[in-house]
Amino acid sequence: MFKGLFQTKSKAKNPVVVDTTGLDMNNIPQHIAIIMDGNGRWAKAQGKVRTFGHQAGAETLKTIVRAADKLGVKVVSAYAFSTENWKRPVTEVSFIMELLSRYLTNEIDEFNENNVQVRFIGSREGLPEIVKQKMDHAIEATKDNTGIILNLAINYGGQAEILHAVRSIAAEAAAGRLAVEDIDNKVIEDHLYTQGLPAPDLLIRPGGDLRISNFLLWQIAYAEIWTTKTFWPDFTPDHLVEAILAFQGRERRFGGLVSR
Ligand code: FPP
Repeated sequence: MFKGLFQTKSKAKNPVVVDTTGLDMNNIPQHIAIIMDGNGRWAKAQGKVRTFGHQAGAETLKTIVRAADKLGVKVVSAYAFSTENWKRPVTEVSFIMELLSRYLTNEIDEFNENNVQVRFIGSREGLPEIVKQKMDHAIEATKDNTGIILNLAINYGGQAEILHAVRSIAAEAAAGRLAVEDIDNKVIEDHLYTQGLPAPDLLIRPGGDLRISNFLLWQIAYAEIWTTKTFWPDFTPDHLVEAILAFQGRERRFGGLVSR
């Protein structure tokens, strides 16, 4: 068990302080997946428009990624826009696309200062050209960073991801490049958007709903789930520590009888 406070040494304007009291620093989840929910309700509670909540949510993500990095987390996957989110009013969708585009422009320096590598999961189909360009730029500009990976899910759906994987595996089999009996978990994982990343150990959902919402369906098979009623814009490094403490209190048996 370790006790103490970590403070980032980066030049970033607002240092992120993480109170690690009670945490076992040898048992930090390697990959944390986050469903950033509650932005709209957070804004409404303050008499503001929903988009104000998304803007605040984007700020929260920056803080939480830096806090996760201080704690030794290797990957944060954040659900920024789902394949179902296109059903929202066009003004809200456009706002989120603009927000993403701005975020991927303005935060590159900070990602580099903090050694953050940016990746994306999801389909590019239907995304505005400018967003796709910013995504490519963010990947290229941060590809040599060796610190935490920020894996942003944009136009992402777990079922669509599995369908995409099945189709490409079937195409390889039909072309004679892959024998049906050779299709195993590894082959499937190699065809998912998350290829090369470890499976999430912990899934965090703020906002009070107890749903998976089509996020990382294959990958969260054995993830521990932690939820809070706190809306995402109010989520702090203390909540992250609380989630990890809960994770450390669970016995992970992966279907067996003893934890590993
Ligand atoms: C869910 O809250 C949130 C979203 C659908 C979008 C999440 C987007 C962001 C946090 C901002 C964009 C991210 C980046 C990286 C720039 P909700 O709107 O469903 O909230 P509600 O349940 O209260 O309505």
